[in-house]
Amino acid sequence: MTLPDFRRRKALHEPITVVTCYDYAFAHLVARTELDCILVGDSVAMVVHGHPSTLAADLPMMQLHTESVARGAGTKFIVADMPFLEHRKGQREAVSAAQLLLRAGAHAVKIEGAAGNLTCIQNLVEGGVPVMGHVGLTPQFIHAFGGFKVQGREDDAAERILADAKALETAGVFALVIEGVPAPLGKRITEALTIPTIGIGAGPATDGQVLVLHDLLGFTEKPPKLARAFGQVGAEALAALRAYDSAVKSAAFPTEKESYR
Ligand code: KIV
Ligand code: NA
Repeated sequence: MTLPDFRRRKALHEPITVVTCYDYAFAHLVARTELDCILVGDSVAMVVHGHPSTLAADLPMMQLHTESVARGAGTKFIVADMPFLEHRKGQREAVSAAQLLLRAGAHAVKIEGAAGNLTCIQNLVEGGVPVMGHVGLTPQFIHAFGGFKVQGREDDAAERILADAKALETAGVFALVIEGVPAPLGKRITEALTIPTIGIGAGPATDGQVLVLHDLLGFTEKPPKLARAFGQVGAEALAALRAYDSAVKSAAFPTEKESYR
């Protein structure tokens, strides 16, 4: 998957698959699949570091995880999230942040929201930084939204999100994440754009889907409604940990075979 493939895949109606990933070990697994794209999401702050929102993901955190993922990701296309407010500090800061993320191994950055970001996005794109947009339930706006709430339920809100999506396409984003909106709005935005849309909780009509790795593996205790656990790796990991504990306590581990003579 390279940048030009994103648009091609939309034209061919071939769904684009994206998964979040935060470290080398899991990136190495993703590299052995047919998945199209890795997102080093700022959800790392929640999923890996245990923070209550994505606001805690700063530039050093995003760089570190991007570097780790890049070492295991093989030839996969890697998108890294622009941390909360980093791009709002000014053009220089946005460029520096993008530079560090691409040097860390990302091939593109993702920026949440449209209003006030369009010039910055255009500048990055003109400088050679592919930018992915993100509209709808953008988690960095948690305090502005008053929580993780589905967006675009009212007509005027839906129109605003559609207008944002079009403005982002004009600014030059190569793809657009649509998160947490009613399925009909996900479909409408997808039909209105020539760039592919990547949905998460945006219904089945988007050009691709993205899921949080730990949700799809079955690690998350209370996954959101939009997520599906395609495996029960969490339960498997828990069983392994308990088996190790009881094996040591019952003197079943280590055996002679597992010891050096
Ligand atoms: O950080 C993240 O995981 C994301 C996706 C859910 C789109 O931004
Ligand atoms: Na994110």
